[in-house]
Parts: sequence; C-alpha cells; structure tokens
Amino acid sequence: PAIEYGLDAPFEVEYHDSLSSTNARARELAEAGETDRAVVANEQTGGRGRLDREWVSPPGGIWCSVLTRPALPPAHVPILTLAAAVAAVETAREAGVDAGIKWPNDVLVPTGTRASRTESDDVPTNDGEQKLVGILTEMEGEADRVSWVVVGIGVNVRAEGLPAGGTGLLAHTDDLDRRAFVQRLLKRFDGLRGEPETVLSAWREHTLTLGRRVRVETPGGEVVGEAVDVEFPGSLVVETDEGTRRVHAGDCEHLRS
Ligand code: BTN
Repeated sequence: PAIEYGLDAPFEVEYHDSLSSTNARARELAEAGETDRAVVANEQTGGRGRLDREWVSPPGGIWCSVLTRPALPPAHVPILTLAAAVAAVETAREAGVDAGIKWPNDVLVPTGTRASRTESDDVPTNDGEQKLVGILTEMEGEADRVSWVVVGIGVNVRAEGLPAGGTGLLAHTDDLDRRAFVQRLLKRFDGLRGEPETVLSAWREHTLTLGRRVRVETPGGEVVGEAVDVEFPGSLVVETDEGTRRVHAGDCEHLRS
C-alpha cells in the first residue's frame, strides 16, 4: 500500500486500491502491536456493517478504519463511535452536504419528504432520510481497559449501486476531493477522541433524533417514546409512557407523529 503522513495528520495512513475490509486490515495492524494508524481503501470486497450485515463498498467510496489504544474500559468505547459520527457529519457539512446524525452513529441526509403527522402514527420515516455514512467499531481487551479499538467509517460517495435508502456525497455536491475529505475526517476525529463533553455537545447539535418519536430495538426489547437527550458514553434517553428509559445499544427508527 501507499503510506502517507499528511501535513499535520495525526495518523499514519495506509491507502489501498482494494481490500476485503479496512476493519480487518486495521485489526491485523492491532495484532501486530501498532497504534494510531488509519487504513483507507478505494474499494472493499468484503465490507462489513453492524449486526453482521454486509456493507456494499464499490470503488470510489471512502472506506476507512482508525486504530487507537485509548485508556478506556470497553463500556466507554461508544463515546469514540459518537466522536466518529460527529467527525463525519462535520466533514460532510464542510463539503457542502447537509447531513445529521441518527442515534447512535448513522449519518443521514434528510430528503425533505417526511410525512406529516396527520397521516399515521408510529410509522418509520427512514424513507425520508438517506444513509450517507455508517460506522462499525470493534475492540479487544480486558473488562477494565481495552487493548485496542478499530473505528470503521464508511462514507458513500456515488449513490449508484447502493442498497435502498443509501445516498452518496456526489448526489449532494459536485466538488469532492476524497483525499482531502479523509484527511479532514481523521483530523476532526483526532481532535474529538479525548474530549467526551465536546463530542456530546456536538452530537446534540448535529442530531436528527432528539425531539423525535423513536422506536429502538434493544437486546432487552422494544423501547418507544420521545428521544430527549444523549448521555455519556452514548446512551439515548427516551421518555416512554412508563417513564424515562436509558438505552445503551440497539437499532433506532425515527417515527412519525
Ligand atoms: C453500518 O452497518 O452502518 C456500519 C457500516 C460500516 C462500514 C465501514 S466501511 C470501512 C469499515 N470497513 C468495514 O468492513 N466496515 C467499516
């Protein structure tokens, strides 16, 4: 691969034309004892998403993984995933793409076609928001401290060939320098990774979820209510008919009404 240290880049960046998965390559680097490395590929042939899903990664996308060794217990690692979402949304906005974050870390572009609340209650409205960026975090270590964390960030560039509900940067801007985008993304992530309070306040500023009615599929069952806040290390606070719930992990849908 081509190795670069960008001007004041915080990570040594490895660029590959094609890889199975940048997360898998970053994991290899972790197992070889490396840290503060980034892996970028033009194409992934075995891109992985959350919940064991495939992540379609055609050539020309921005497929990127960052390896770090933070002094955190595994339970606090979600704050790094939120940091990556904030870094991605801010970099997309800087490139002229008006995106926002759906809890916990999907970056979506609102399409302005949200149905009105009179139409029906509790129907997912994800058809009015298209996914621009997905993030997959993997880690290894002990209960009190991780050994390494890999944060994988997939930014769609072309909209063609993506699964339904996906969009790419080039559907919203004509002017994109992918190298510069990666450098800015890494720099922002570096600036945020040790600043949990900054991450949470920036996340609140950029979210599409707070103030919305949501349904979250959690390992412990479904939680439905109004999303009112996010708390360290990334939990969603939901006001339900039964009272306040804090959700630590799960799949979130924005609902009408
Ligand atoms: C999701 O399901 O939303 C997460 C998608 C994460 C995709 C990125 S692309 C770079 C890195 N390498 C992978 O195989 N997956 C992540």
